[in-house]
Amino acid sequence: MSTARFEPADPLRGTLRPPPDKSISHRAAILAAMAEGTSRIEGYLDSADTCSTLEAVRALGAEVDVDGAGGGSLSVRVEGIGLEGPARSAGGQPLALDVGNAGTLLRLLPGWLAGQPRGSWRLDGDDSIRRRPVDRIVRPLRAMGARVECREERLPPLEVQGAQLHGAEHELPVASAQVKSCLLLAGLTAGGPTTVIEPAASRDHTERMVRAAGARITSEPTGSGLAYGSKVSGRRVRIEPAERLRACGFSVPGDFSSAAFFIVAALVVPRSAVRLEGVGLNPTRVGLLGILNRMGARIEVSEEPPLGGEPRGAISVRHSPLHATRVVAGEVPLAIDELPLVGLAACFAKGETVVSGAAELRHKESDRIATVVEALRAMGGEAEEREDGFAVRGTGGLRGGVASSHGDHRLAMVGAVAGLASRDGVEVAGMDAASVSYPGFEADLRYLAK
Ligand code: S3P
Repeated sequence: MSTARFEPADPLRGTLRPPPDKSISHRAAILAAMAEGTSRIEGYLDSADTCSTLEAVRALGAEVDVDGAGGGSLSVRVEGIGLEGPARSAGGQPLALDVGNAGTLLRLLPGWLAGQPRGSWRLDGDDSIRRRPVDRIVRPLRAMGARVECREERLPPLEVQGAQLHGAEHELPVASAQVKSCLLLAGLTAGGPTTVIEPAASRDHTERMVRAAGARITSEPTGSGLAYGSKVSGRRVRIEPAERLRACGFSVPGDFSSAAFFIVAALVVPRSAVRLEGVGLNPTRVGLLGILNRMGARIEVSEEPPLGGEPRGAISVRHSPLHATRVVAGEVPLAIDELPLVGLAACFAKGETVVSGAAELRHKESDRIATVVEALRAMGGEAEEREDGFAVRGTGGLRGGVASSHGDHRLAMVGAVAGLASRDGVEVAGMDAASVSYPGFEADLRYLAK
């Protein structure tokens, strides 16, 4: 575990391209393996998580060639093995797949494997992944006829015995793009249509990508209703079984979730002005922008023509006086990975910011309600836990101190940004966790702060 110190910074200035999108990279590798023919992925994220996915599809029999393109980005060629092509077992034992720390890989891949009769696989990973719940995919997959087992009916390792699946209609209790994606992949090999109804819209990369690969998929709003005590608008997504997926060219935009650290850094470090280019602007990912706009942030977005089915563009941010806001359930899935940063921004805002309807945060790489509140307090913030979120009373700044990442990449990066904007600096214990999604983060942050 490495420790790094982040001193109060001069204004952040400059232009930066964040690394490629992690969610889209995982999906591109999996769909390329499921397809027939050669897929090329330009701008594949070079990180621990997404390399686990390349290794997993290799273990399933896909030929994968990788070229380092620099800047945290890879050029990847995948020879697809087809929907029914995954290697099925190893010497009479389930084929072992190591997902490392990658929750997205852990949740998506079983959707494909569950529909492969005569195969068996065992998915396992590091200590943190062993605490991530998988019952959320196990139950609905079983409702499609899948044979899936896990530890204590809830946790990895996960064993999948392939079976002939049938289509089903799933009403998800919680909006989760990972669960939705798992079931849509399962739907591709099922005997009939599969429908997933989510209580609030979550990221839709899988829908866009399977459509581009030739699958028949529709998505429509369910109308607004009440969920988690506030008004939200859900979606109904329906996929038909497919005979094959066609190979595609993927061009992965910059990761909004990585850009978000610099957006908030520029907002809270006085006199900063930062421009982020080539950033993915999918509306199901950029909920943070709406939240920060309400807080008074000076942010300008300019869209470029979409490439590879995903909107992208540039984001310019200037230091801004912030005021408090309320984040409610309907916008939580659209900003799920950025909520720790909302907590940090709230320390610099006037008034009390409350995030609610976000109990899902407890099931991320760490219990992000507990760890965010602990980190903010350790740095002098006034934060308190709520069952389904947190409240932060802005005091106009942070003292600084020692924050632990708890092995969680996003927590490590929040601590680093906080250090730059703090009075005394921040020491982040476990800074190495950042490499899960953003190996070049420290260098990029220091480049803007130089
Ligand atoms: C992801 C979906 C989200 C997010 C995670 C990546 C994805 O998880 O927190 O970092 O790639 O689908 P949930 O679907 O569990 O909310």
